[in-house]
Amino acid sequence: MAPRNALPPPEPSRSVPVRLRRLRRTAALRDWVAEVDVEVRRLVYPLFVQPGDGPAEPIPSLPGVLRYSPRKLAPVARELTEEGIRSVLVFGAARQKDPQGSDAWSPDGAVPQAVRALKHGSPELVVVTDVCLCAYTSHGHCGVLRDGDVANDASAERLGRVARAHAAAGADVVAPSAMMDGQVAAIRSTLDGAGFDSTAILAYSTKHASAFYGPFRAAEGSAPAAGDRKGYQMDPRNAREAMREMAADVAEGADLLMVKPALTSLDLLARARRRFDLPLAAYHVSGEYAMLKAAAAAGVVDERAAVNETLVALRRAGADLLITYYAREVARWDRGAG
Ligand code: PBG
Repeated sequence: MAPRNALPPPEPSRSVPVRLRRLRRTAALRDWVAEVDVEVRRLVYPLFVQPGDGPAEPIPSLPGVLRYSPRKLAPVARELTEEGIRSVLVFGAARQKDPQGSDAWSPDGAVPQAVRALKHGSPELVVVTDVCLCAYTSHGHCGVLRDGDVANDASAERLGRVARAHAAAGADVVAPSAMMDGQVAAIRSTLDGAGFDSTAILAYSTKHASAFYGPFRAAEGSAPAAGDRKGYQMDPRNAREAMREMAADVAEGADLLMVKPALTSLDLLARARRRFDLPLAAYHVSGEYAMLKAAAAAGVVDERAAVNETLVALRRAGADLLITYYAREVARWDRGAG
C-alpha cells in the first residue's frame, strides 16, 4: 500500500498526446487565443531635432530615420497622429557645446522649440523629452566634470534645469537618461519648485553601458571624447543591481520605468514586471534597429515578421510601452499598407 501522503500515481500513459495544435489550426483561432499584441497605441517614436531651419535630413547610421528642424515639426506631429502614433521621444542637439552643456537648459534650445511646435501641431500627442547633457557638452559625457570625473550631484542639479526648460515648453513627460544617482529626485524637486507638478518622469532606470547605442551616437555626435560611460551606465552583468536602480527611481518619484537596450534585457523586463506596478517601457535601441535593417537589406530575414517577433517578445516579457525607430513602419503595416 502506498503511504497516505503520497502523490497520486501518474496518469496512465495515453496513446493520445496533449493536442496543443488544436488552437493553432487557423489564423482565427491563433488570434483568438494570442496572449499579447503589439498595439500601435503602445509605440513611442524617437524624434531627432537639430538647431536651425533647414529641411529634414536623413541620418546615415539609422536608415529611414530623419533629423528635423524644430520649427518644422508641427506638420510632422499631425502626420504622426493621423498614422495612429500617440507619443514621441525628442532628442536635441546643441547650438553650441561647452563643458557645462548649458545649451541643454536654454528656454529657446532645440528641444523646447520642438516641444512647442509638436504641441501646436497636435495637442494630443504625448511629448516625452530625453533629459541628458551628452549632446551638449564639449567632452561628450552625460554630466559635468570635476577633476576629469563626472560629478554626480552637480550633474543631477543641471539635469533638473534641463527638465524644467522642457516642462516649461509643454513636455508631458521628461526622461532622464544620464544615469546619475538621485537624478529623478533632483528633477522632481526642481519641477515641483517651478510649479510643474503635473509633468511626469519616465526614468531610464536600467540603462546599460551598451555597444548597441552606436548608430545613435553617430547621429547625435554624442560619443564621449575620452573614456566611456561605464562609470555611470550599468554593467550588463548585474540583474539584482538593476532592480536596485529601479527601486531607487520608484522611491525618488518616477512615474514610469524604462529598461534599455530591450532584447538583451528581457529577463529584467520580466523581473521588473513582477516587482513594480509602474508602467514599464522597453527601449528597442538604435543598434537593435540597425541590425534588423541590415539583415533585411541583405535579404536574410523577412523584415516585417522579424520586427513583429521582436516587439512581441518585449510585450511578452512585460513591457507596456515600446520605444522603437520602427514605430511608423509598424503603424503603417498595422493599417494594412505595405
Ligand atoms: C543619451 C542617450 C543615449 C541613448 C538614449 N539617450 C546614448 C548614450 O547613452 O550614449 C541611446 C538610444 C539609442 O541607441 O537608440 N544619454
